[in-house]
Amino acid sequence: MRTPFLAGNWKMNLTSREITPLLEELAAAVTGVEGRDILVCPAFPYLAQAVAALGSSQIAVGAQDCHHEESGAFTGEVSPLMLKDIGATHVILGHSERRHIMGESDEVINRKVRAVIKAGLDPILCVGETLEERQAERTWAVIETQLEHGLDGLDGGQCGRLTIAYEPVWAIGTGLTATPEQAQDVHAQIRTWVERRFDATLAAGMRILYGGSVNPKTVDGLMAQTDVDGGLVGGAALKAADFARIVRFESAS
Ligand code: PGA
Repeated sequence: MRTPFLAGNWKMNLTSREITPLLEELAAAVTGVEGRDILVCPAFPYLAQAVAALGSSQIAVGAQDCHHEESGAFTGEVSPLMLKDIGATHVILGHSERRHIMGESDEVINRKVRAVIKAGLDPILCVGETLEERQAERTWAVIETQLEHGLDGLDGGQCGRLTIAYEPVWAIGTGLTATPEQAQDVHAQIRTWVERRFDATLAAGMRILYGGSVNPKTVDGLMAQTDVDGGLVGGAALKAADFARIVRFESAS
């Protein structure tokens, strides 16, 4: 019912000479793969290159962030309108690196989510706890706050194309993947929250991705969980063979 969604977050990596072969290899490696939605998210300067290179392939292109205004005096920023204009379809928002390194607040992230929806792009809202928060048994309290603020003011109709990514901060770039059980536990709570906040139909259709050291070895176990609908993949998305294997995860059923 929910099409698995595998998204690669390239972060601030790769230049055009590396991107061209990576996209060619990836497009070839996933040719013929059915029933999967595939996304790559290069850095801003390479989005148009990726859109052109992927052409009619089944791989979509998304951005890693954006500003909440359409245009104006915001030096250094990129608007949702611009992303739509060059053919991007998705925007990752509220990634923990933006929350923790750039100091983005839930309020700022909320403005971006609304702007992205208004522009007709699909947001991927990231939520997740730090190690200290998990150890203090505050995991759900943290995620619930991020969801409540991140989606403040939005109704179910506006959230129809929203994806949520659960990314425990302690698992990002550390090689420490959450266990399938840990991921399932949080994903199920997120789905229940979506049902309470919006409605059962939206909750049943919403894709909840897991992110944090997903790799070819861990993907099958994660994807076997009822409420894990895909992955937001960092390091392993920089290698065509690894990301293609993740896209081609083996389902238990
Ligand atoms: P990672 O990054 O797969 O390298 O842990 C995931 C992410 O930050 O989205």
